[in-house]
Amino acid sequence: MRTPRPLSTLAILALFAAPPVLAQKAPGKLDFDYFMNEVQPIFLAKREGSVRCIQCHTRSSNLRLQPLEEHQLFWTEEQSRKNFESVSQLVLPGENPMKSRFLTHPLAASAGGDPFHGGGKHFRNQQDPEWRIMADWVAGYTQRRPAADTVVRIIQTNAAGDDASVIDPATNTVVATIGDIEIPHGVTGAPDGSQIYITNESLHSLDIVDSRTLRVKRRIPLSGRPNNLAVTADGSRVYVAIMEMPGALDVIDVASMQNIKTIPVDGAIHNVYVTPDSRYAVGGSIQTSTINVVDTATNKLAWKLKMSSGIRPMTFSKKANGATDKIFVQLSDFHGFAVVDFDTRKEVARIEHPAIPGEVAHYDGLQAAPAHGLAVSPDGKTLWSTSKVYSHAYIHSLPDLQEIGRVFVGQHPEWVTFTPDGKTFYMGAAGDNTTVAVDAATLTRVATIPVGQVPKRIAMVYLQVD
Ligand code: HEC
Repeated sequence: MRTPRPLSTLAILALFAAPPVLAQKAPGKLDFDYFMNEVQPIFLAKREGSVRCIQCHTRSSNLRLQPLEEHQLFWTEEQSRKNFESVSQLVLPGENPMKSRFLTHPLAASAGGDPFHGGGKHFRNQQDPEWRIMADWVAGYTQRRPAADTVVRIIQTNAAGDDASVIDPATNTVVATIGDIEIPHGVTGAPDGSQIYITNESLHSLDIVDSRTLRVKRRIPLSGRPNNLAVTADGSRVYVAIMEMPGALDVIDVASMQNIKTIPVDGAIHNVYVTPDSRYAVGGSIQTSTINVVDTATNKLAWKLKMSSGIRPMTFSKKANGATDKIFVQLSDFHGFAVVDFDTRKEVARIEHPAIPGEVAHYDGLQAAPAHGLAVSPDGKTLWSTSKVYSHAYIHSLPDLQEIGRVFVGQHPEWVTFTPDGKTFYMGAAGDNTTVAVDAATLTRVATIPVGQVPKRIAMVYLQVD
């Protein structure tokens, strides 16, 4: 789906701030920063059926990459300079990529590459997005070229898989898979569509996935095992929930790709959200039943609220002025959700989902979370809550909280997201290994999309494409 993205004020400002295209290039010169941040990730990336460049090139041939220490996720600047020197010797800077052994060696012979490479052929043609990044570096680029387009995608992480499924909402089919992230947990996208953020529970890292190559570009070390994550509306910060006691929120600065702060909070954090106005990051603890509200201007805990049981998914409604109105929150062992008023910091209502006649109740594998998926529609008029017990989503009107409908999703329905126009809602049915699309106007299932193992977290993202 080639959906033109409505430009927000921020995006329009960004357009004016963007340097002219010509300034991105310094012909005849090889740029170090571009090499470090854009080219080096290709040496670490896993291409299906191929060994990563780093596995051989700490030893083989004249292309010498610095070895990474155990648990080291990326090269330091000093190591990157050594890599830069080594690779530069295999490059003839300029427009003709066929003059650089660095580019011809791993390229398929049928696409103009060398006849043989001991490490095999990693790039089938000269349009390959990773090969283009390398060729642009050789041509003197100092920044990525502007993308051709931005599209809308639904990303479903597969909790028991090692991948995430990329769904095109125009066709409701999986159009790509993001691999090489074992136990992917939460997913969200950069507002400008340049990259996707996925928390990696096996490596304890925030993995940044390049939107145009769909490969991991960087892994940022976290202070502990992560769960969910959230990005601010301006795209500058990512907040990551640390699911280990004593509990914390890690703050990732996107521009520098650094973990800049570990904010102490009350309890190990399962889910973190940024409020609609981005003024607060809100983290919920299952262990201490506490909602932690962190001020994003100071990155300090502003206030907290203890609830009756563990904090599960949350979502927010906003006032006319954009400020947060209510927090809707699902709780451990409660089949429904509670409502917290953001200003008075008090629970003001609780809605329990009724049993559905004729529907078999499931109690196996609930992990104390009978209801585990919540979202407010983009127009602010409905609240969607999923029930693992009754395999349905319950839809309530806002602000009056009357149930206006139910829709069957499948076994163990989980997180909820929607297209930007609010016409279609998506939920992972963890027990069926499917993602289900529901039409918001008719409350009917319009697609059941096979994805990976145990699909849980889901997000709508914008993706830049070449
Ligand atoms: C399985 C091991 C292996 C992998 C993986 C591998 N290479 Fe190689 N590479 C070699 C060997 C062995 C040679 C030396 C023999 C030859 O020239 O093919 C070599 C040679 C090269 C050369 C020529 C260096 C020279 O001395 O002239 C380049 C350039 C190169 N590789 C780039 C890459 C890139 C880029 C990747 C990843 C996209 C990669 N290689 C992945 C094994 C590997």
